[in-house]
Amino acid sequence: MARSNKVAVITGGGSGIGKGIAKVFTQNGIDVAIAGRNLKKLEKAAAELKSSKAEILCVQTDIAVQAQVERLFDKALEKFGKVDILVNNAGITEPMGSITDIDMKLAEDIINIDFMGAFYCARRAAKEMKAQKSGNILNIGATEGLVSLPGTLYGAMKAAISQFTIVLSRELAAVPIRVNCIRPGVVITEKTQGLSAGDLEAFLKNVPMHKALYPEDIGKLAYYLVSDDARYITGAIVSADAGVSADGGWFAFGL
Ligand SMILES: NC(=O)c1ccc[n+]([C@@H]2O[C@H](COP(=O)([O-])OP(=O)(O)OC[C@H]3O[C@@H](n4cnc5c(N)ncnc54)[C@H](OP(=O)(O)O)[C@@H]3O)[C@@H](O)[C@H]2O)c1
Repeated sequence: MARSNKVAVITGGGSGIGKGIAKVFTQNGIDVAIAGRNLKKLEKAAAELKSSKAEILCVQTDIAVQAQVERLFDKALEKFGKVDILVNNAGITEPMGSITDIDMKLAEDIINIDFMGAFYCARRAAKEMKAQKSGNILNIGATEGLVSLPGTLYGAMKAAISQFTIVLSRELAAVPIRVNCIRPGVVITEKTQGLSAGDLEAFLKNVPMHKALYPEDIGKLAYYLVSDDARYITGAIVSADAGVSADGGWFAFGL
C-alpha cells in the first residue's frame, strides 16, 4: 500500500488500544507520532510497529501538562510538517471503590489526564488544523461514560469526553474538522491479559455477545472514522463494545 501522506498524533500510543490504532494506521501508510510518559515503552512499541509504509516518532509527553502537549505538537510538526489526525487515547482508570475512599492525588490525575489532557491536545490540534483547513480529532471514551459502572470520576470524565466531542464537532464543522468518539467496551490489552481465563470468562458472562475486543478492532474503526470514507461523519459517538451499551435496563433486570 502506498504512503497515505497523512500524519497522526496518538496519545498513549505505546500500549493497548493506542498501540492497536498506531498499528492499523502505520499499516495503512499514516505516519504517526506516539506520545506517553514512558519513552522506553514508546520506543519498544515503535520497534514492534516498524514498517516500510510509514514513519514513527516517539515523543515523551505527560498530557496533563499543557507545555508538554505544546512540545509534542512542535516535535510532530518539526518532523512531519503537519498534523492531520489527533487520537486522544491516553488515559488512566480508577480502581473500584467509594467516593469517600479515593486518594485525592489519583482523583486529580484522572481529571487532568482523562479530560484536561485531551482538551489541551484538541486545543493545539484545532489551531494547526484550522490553519490547514482540514483535520480529524478522534476521542476515546468508555462505556462508563454512558452507563453506571463503578468509578465515579472515571465515568464522569468519559461522559465529559462524549459531550466535548459533540460540542467541538459543531464548532469546527465548517472548517472542516471532523470530531468523533469511539466508546470501547472490554478490550484485551497488556493490562487485562493479567486476568486469569476464569476471571475473564466471568467478566464476559454479562457482555451480550460474550466477547472481548482487541486493540486492532478499535484501530480498524478508528481508521475508518478518520478516513475520507467517513467524510460526513462528525459529532458521532460510536460504541464498540459487543453490546454492552445496548444492554441498558436488561442487565439491571438480570435478563
Ligand atoms: N482497555 C479497555 O477495556 C478500555 C475500555 C474502554 C475505554 N478504554 C480507554 O482506552 C484508552 C486506552 O486504554 P488502554 O486500555 O489501552 O490502557 P493502557 O494500555 O494503560 O494505555 C494507556 C496509555 O496512556 C498513556 N498515558 C497514561 N497517562 C498518560 C499521561 N499523563 N500522558 C501521556 N500518556 C499517558 C500510557 O503510557 P504511559 O504510562 O507511558 O504514560 C499508556 O500507553 C483509555 O482512554 C481508556 O480509558 C479502555
